[in-house]
Amino acid sequence: MGQAPAPMDEHPERRPLDGRHIALGVCGSIAAFKAADLCSKLRQAGAEVEVVMTPAATQFVTPLTFQSLSGRDVVVDMFTAAEPEAHVEVARRADALVIAPATADCLANLAHGQTPDMVTLTALATAAPVLVAPAMDNQMWEHAATQSNVAALRERGIIFAGPVSGRLASGRAGAGRMAEVPAIVGALRAMLGSHDGDLRGRHVVVSAGGTNEPIDPVRYVGNHSTGKMGFAIAEAARDRGARVTIVTGPVALETPAGIERVDVKTVAEMLAALEVATSRSDAVIMAAAPADFRPDVPAGQKIKKQPGQERLALELVLNPDIIATLPGGGVRVGFAAETENLAEYARRKLTSKRLHFIVANDVTAAGSGFGTETNEVVILHDDGRVEELPLQSKYAVGHAILDRVAARLG
Ligand code: PMT
Repeated sequence: MGQAPAPMDEHPERRPLDGRHIALGVCGSIAAFKAADLCSKLRQAGAEVEVVMTPAATQFVTPLTFQSLSGRDVVVDMFTAAEPEAHVEVARRADALVIAPATADCLANLAHGQTPDMVTLTALATAAPVLVAPAMDNQMWEHAATQSNVAALRERGIIFAGPVSGRLASGRAGAGRMAEVPAIVGALRAMLGSHDGDLRGRHVVVSAGGTNEPIDPVRYVGNHSTGKMGFAIAEAARDRGARVTIVTGPVALETPAGIERVDVKTVAEMLAALEVATSRSDAVIMAAAPADFRPDVPAGQKIKKQPGQERLALELVLNPDIIATLPGGGVRVGFAAETENLAEYARRKLTSKRLHFIVANDVTAAGSGFGTETNEVVILHDDGRVEELPLQSKYAVGHAILDRVAARLG
């Protein structure tokens, strides 16, 4: 029987912004409608959201919209706010201030410490980290005055999410479009992590996905890994302030904000990429499913069926064992994907691959393994401890793994 799980594991649906107090500043731009979705997504992610708006923003979206979405009063005018000294109080309560959309005018005011509205007042009065998501016409964004303000704000530690290139309100295309909501939420999570996360200053390398070992130019030997487990660990590490590199086989997942991604296809490529990434890392977590064997000599051209042919023999040769080959990497964590004898097979891998601990999953169990949003794992440590964790989201499994990595890093 394993030890009692750590307290964090008692919250299977742990949400990334749980308990965080986010001040959301909304300026007057057509992109203000996206701020309503942002407000909603922040709430869904577990945050308390308090909205402040400029008078111009209320021309695009009403305060009532944000009041309904946030469940709190919205402050537009500090003189009529229900709370005395609202600008100071909102600023003090905030763990982070997000200004989305941030207009050119707002950036200019922020750069010069001017406070004509509740958004800039809150920015000047807060000691919390500030994230801005600019939205404006591309000529305004590219103007020397705006770029000089942006440089001054970056120098002061303000974090920028976007703008991105695309279709603008004018109908033209260019840089100036507000970043999409998932990118803003990702940037916020990264900013909060690097502000107070327990892995800030650490470099965590994660591998994800399966490999494709070519049979010929159109076919390969692969497996069912979607990369979800590895990407969830990478996001959890990013949320705790780590610099994260993900080395991934071919998967259909977007790169999460603030994470460095290296795409590979084969085990040979994954090994080469991980040798570089782990040369000075604090931890390496091998959630990938690299192929144990590859076709010995891939055909140069597409293999054709011959008349009457009933069979095709493929000769496979052993691939290098990536994690066993890597000399270091810091805290070394492996996975074991098993269909039987989970603990016994995992323990063998723990030793032969020189791991600090191994995360064993039965890939035939309901809700576990390939392609699922959840996983049920057993963690076997090099000192003999065994921990059985409940079925929980892959993101929560990521945090459980990182709790143990953080404990080893001290
Ligand atoms: O990507 P998902 O769809 O979310 O699925 C998640 C998962 C099932 C792939 C994941 O939870 C998982 O179990 N990953 C490990 C898959 C695997 O290759 O397990 P294994 O028992 O065959 O290998 C043991 C360990 O050695 C693993 O850490 C593996 O990354 C590593 N290995 C394996 C082969 C190889 N040539 N080099 C390696 O480093």
